[in-house]
Amino acid sequence: MLSLASIVLSVGAALPLATANALSGALHRDVVVIGGGAAGAYAAVRLRDDFNKSIALIEKQDILGGMVDTYVDQKTGATFDFGVQTFLNVSGAKAFFDRFNVSVGSYSSSASLITEYIDFNTGAEVDFEVPSITAQIVAIAQFLTVIEPWESMLQPGYWNFPDPSNIPDDLLIPFGEFLTKYGLEDGAPIIYSTTGLGVGNMSEVATMFALQSFGWDMARALTGQLGLFTPTSGGNQALYNAIATDLGDDVLYSSTVLKSRRTNSGVSLTVRNHKTGQLTPIIARRLLVAIEPTEDNTSPLDLSPSEQNTLAKFTYSNEFAGLVDNAVFNTNYTYFNLPSTAAPNHTLIFQEEPMVASFEYTGLDHLFRVMVIGNTTSTADEAKALAQTNFNTLLKTGHLSSPQDQKLSWAAFSTHGPMHARVSVDEVKSGFYQDLYKLQGARSTWWTGGAFSVNFQTKLWEFNEGLIPKILEGL
Ligand SMILES: Cc1cc2nc3c(=O)[nH]c(=O)nc-3n(C[C@H](O)[C@H](O)[C@H](O)COP(=O)(O)OP(=O)(O)OC[C@H]3O[C@@H](n4cnc5c(N)ncnc54)[C@H](O)[C@@H]3O)c2cc1C
Ligand SMILES: *[C@@H]1O[C@H](CO)[C@@H](O)[C@H](O)[C@H]1NC(C)=O
Ligand SMILES: *[C@@H]1O[C@H](CO)[C@@H](O)[C@H](O)[C@H]1NC(C)=O
Ligand SMILES: *[C@@H]1O[C@H](CO)[C@@H](O)[C@H](O)[C@H]1NC(C)=O
Ligand SMILES: *[C@@H]1O[C@H](CO)[C@@H](O)[C@H](O)[C@H]1NC(C)=O
Ligand SMILES: *[C@@H]1O[C@H](CO)[C@@H](O)[C@H](O)[C@H]1NC(C)=O
Ligand SMILES: *[C@@H]1O[C@H](CO)[C@@H](O)[C@H](O)[C@H]1NC(C)=O
Ligand SMILES: *[C@@H]1O[C@H](CO)[C@@H](O)[C@H](O)[C@H]1NC(C)=O
Repeated sequence: MLSLASIVLSVGAALPLATANALSGALHRDVVVIGGGAAGAYAAVRLRDDFNKSIALIEKQDILGGMVDTYVDQKTGATFDFGVQTFLNVSGAKAFFDRFNVSVGSYSSSASLITEYIDFNTGAEVDFEVPSITAQIVAIAQFLTVIEPWESMLQPGYWNFPDPSNIPDDLLIPFGEFLTKYGLEDGAPIIYSTTGLGVGNMSEVATMFALQSFGWDMARALTGQLGLFTPTSGGNQALYNAIATDLGDDVLYSSTVLKSRRTNSGVSLTVRNHKTGQLTPIIARRLLVAIEPTEDNTSPLDLSPSEQNTLAKFTYSNEFAGLVDNAVFNTNYTYFNLPSTAAPNHTLIFQEEPMVASFEYTGLDHLFRVMVIGNTTSTADEAKALAQTNFNTLLKTGHLSSPQDQKLSWAAFSTHGPMHARVSVDEVKSGFYQDLYKLQGARSTWWTGGAFSVNFQTKLWEFNEGLIPKILEGL
């Protein structure tokens, strides 16, 4: 087994002279965390402030918060969250806001919007008759009863995911079939339009991945059994700005890992600031990876062939959210994309990704929120181009107040990148999740974030609560 000293030496030897000299100034930390989004920022605070561990947090952007996107209206100071909308009030969530003095209030969505269903590919009006809100909520309550027995298999995290021979069949059938089997079709529109659409054509994905995109706590929230909250001022970014203030110089912004060495006795990373070019060596006893384990993100992480083989099995959606400012949209409207075949009342028919999910009024001037769900290769340019194409179609087919061509005017745009990591049913049946969880703790490395848990901010905090004691063992 390598000692820390020999890791330092070998990294030093592999780096240019200037960097090798800088190694005398290496940061020594108990835990180094990669990614300052929901999962990484929370873990950094807990480890440092509550467990007295020294940390360094490496964040690619110049702010914390990841998928949180708070737009601030320059004229009025009003905020609109066009990325993460709201926080599930699961255990400990409210207390975490309290410790940063970020006051929160109940979340209320813009319920008074008028929804117009249109097939964005053709511009055809879709005469889709959505089930009444009562019928939808009744279905969600039944849905919760059906899925309740499986909660501990998938949340928080896959620690208790059953062995291949014990996986309930229902978790592996397409979600559309699942909803039909249990007579829950009326619940589909609200599952899809809130968070289910992240997986693209929700009817096609294996039920377990649809559950990870909506699931137990969203069902509880929609049926009034669990609160949803947001900060009362400053938008959702208010929390992450408070965390940034707290963590101070322990965050390395605008930085990514250039190369690393991971062993059972510790890790050694070289981190590069892409604005200044500065290289910072970090030597730590543990690594916590809080970014999606994509090929790009993991290429500097010195993966072993078996780590690489496992992580390469994931496929992702690529998601984008933005705000457009075009006066031709009608205020108070949501233009919602559904295939024509959803008419008159087929609740299980959704668009295939890549797709623009909707143009939705924000309540501010002429600003509309745009959500694009891409496939595993979609880029930001493709997402914007698709939104423009769909917009042209809406203009030409008379859905907007002017038929003239015009450019979408982007007031904000955010690339959320790969998320909703999932694998094929065959992989699940071949023990993928057991293999994935063998990575936890191996080579001094722990993994958090959506791929290892679920795509909700406060659920990731809950997942971290289970992970932190494991990270701390022997530290
Ligand atoms: C449009 C949209 C709306 C959503 N709404 C909600 C909601 O209302 N409520 C909710 O609970 N969840 C919501 N989610 C899901 C939630 O945002 C995610 O589940 C959560 O942010 C995932 O947290 P994370 O820490 O794993 O990743 P992220 O929050 O994405 O954080 C990853 C961080 O790592 C950084 N990073 C990425 N790559 C690197 C790298 N190579 N090196 C260094 N740093 C890197 C990123 O800049 C980012 O800060 C929404 C997601 C989207 C896309
Ligand atoms: C925190 O850790 C430091 C360094 O290991 C140690 O000196 C200090 O006593 C610890 N403080 C508490 C309150 O445990
Ligand atoms: C929160 O407010 C309390 C009381 O005013 C103060 O003692 C504490 O330092 C504040 N915490 C933060 C993180 O600002
Ligand atoms: C959140 O839950 C806490 C208890 O954990 C409760 O005190 C608080 O009122 C809840 N808030 C909301 C907005 O649901
Ligand atoms: C939009 O809705 C708000 C609030 O319900 C209302 O005051 C306003 O008149 C509406 N605007 C239009 C153009 O219908
Ligand atoms: C769906 O529409 C068809 C045709 O209008 C009608 O016969 C059927 O009862 C409707 N189904 C539901 C569940 O509303
Ligand atoms: C989405 O999947 C469902 C179920 O497989 C299918 O009926 C539907 O046609 C798909 N949508 C598109 C646009 O292909
Ligand atoms: C993703 O979508 C684009 C545009 O439709 C398509 O060209 C590409 O083949 C798709 N990629 C995958 C992996 O499906």
